[in-house]
Amino acid sequence: MKIGDMTAIPEPLLEVRDLRIAIPGRQGEHLAVANIGFTVASGEILGLVGESGSGKSLSMLAVMGLLPAGMRASGSIRFKGQEILGLPERQMRRLRGGRIAMIFQDPMTALNPVLTLGAQIVETIELHNPSLSSRELRNRAIELMELVAIPAPDKRFDQYPHEFSGGMRQRIVIAIAVANDPDLLIADEPTTALDVTIQAQIVDILNRLRREKGVAIALITHDLGLVAGLADRIAILYAGRIAECGEIGAVFQRPRHPYTAGLLAAVPSIDADVARLYAIRGTPPSLADRPPGCQFNPRCPFALPRCAEYNPEFRRFGETVVACHRAEELNLASDTADAR
Ligand SMILES: Nc1ncnc2c1ncn2[C@@H]1O[C@H](COP(=O)(O)OP(=O)(O)OP(=O)(O)O)[C@@H](O)[C@H]1O
Ligand code: SF4
Ligand SMILES: [Mg+2]
Repeated sequence: MKIGDMTAIPEPLLEVRDLRIAIPGRQGEHLAVANIGFTVASGEILGLVGESGSGKSLSMLAVMGLLPAGMRASGSIRFKGQEILGLPERQMRRLRGGRIAMIFQDPMTALNPVLTLGAQIVETIELHNPSLSSRELRNRAIELMELVAIPAPDKRFDQYPHEFSGGMRQRIVIAIAVANDPDLLIADEPTTALDVTIQAQIVDILNRLRREKGVAIALITHDLGLVAGLADRIAILYAGRIAECGEIGAVFQRPRHPYTAGLLAAVPSIDADVARLYAIRGTPPSLADRPPGCQFNPRCPFALPRCAEYNPEFRRFGETVVACHRAEELNLASDTADAR
């Protein structure tokens, strides 16, 4: 069964099925995203996790209709039931910054250095609400600054990005992203460049947005601790495919995919059991020269000959969906210590 069918839920806000993204190269195209599918329900937080290059950002840029020139996406991306993959740019623009918003991976380039922060928030609100007066725009901008916990927003409205710390700038980036009350916020590594206390504050803000505004969030991160504290469900990507996807507690308590188990081993504080798991050796495959079969097989301590021959099917185990030939028989929390 396909991953899109396996992760289907009733009336999803966002439904991505069989997403493939081809990148042109000198030796022809290769698939950076080879088969990704997941859903986000209204008001829920989905964590998207995976090593660098696993296709997290590209998948979400495809949702936004913002893939770099030359890349080709196929499959299906539905938002509120409407197919949006391949939608004309004019219609995509209406969705972007309106119903769907994104915090991009590099927050430092997200703000214009020569415009005040207030003006940048106002600009975004005005784009979708051209009839508001300048007083109304300013008030709405200040409300947003309060929502993201900027102290004394009335005074800070007229300041420039360089007058703000990294954490404060990231709050403004979030305020701009949610300026038009999106249904879905895509947050690409929203805490990576920030120190731990500031990270915790950003997490609080994301939680508040969900609680008070009902915003669904697709949270891209390397940080499993962050996902554990925020997300309802998690999708684990490996080399442009879904390795495992499911309810957060189920995946953390009983990872079914060896890659998930390896990722959890890197954060032993999440659960004492995972301390017994193994560390992942080696590096991800070159996407232009993928290994046959399961993409994780060159690194997997549990690989069998069939793992290099054909791709595992997705299978459901209670609240999780897993692509591993051995998902049924492995009990990773206890088997991994002997795996090597
Ligand atoms: N503009 C681009 N041109 C060519 N290849 C790209 C481009 N952007 C991404 N890629 C390639 O596509 C693959 C997936 O990239 P993507 O940015 O989605 O990874 P990611 O999971 O977001 O990684 P990271 O955690 O480092 O942000 C990688 O192999 C990457 O090198
Ligand atoms: S399919 Fe085989 S190689 Fe892939 S994760 Fe499972 S056991 Fe490892
Ligand atoms: Mg990325």
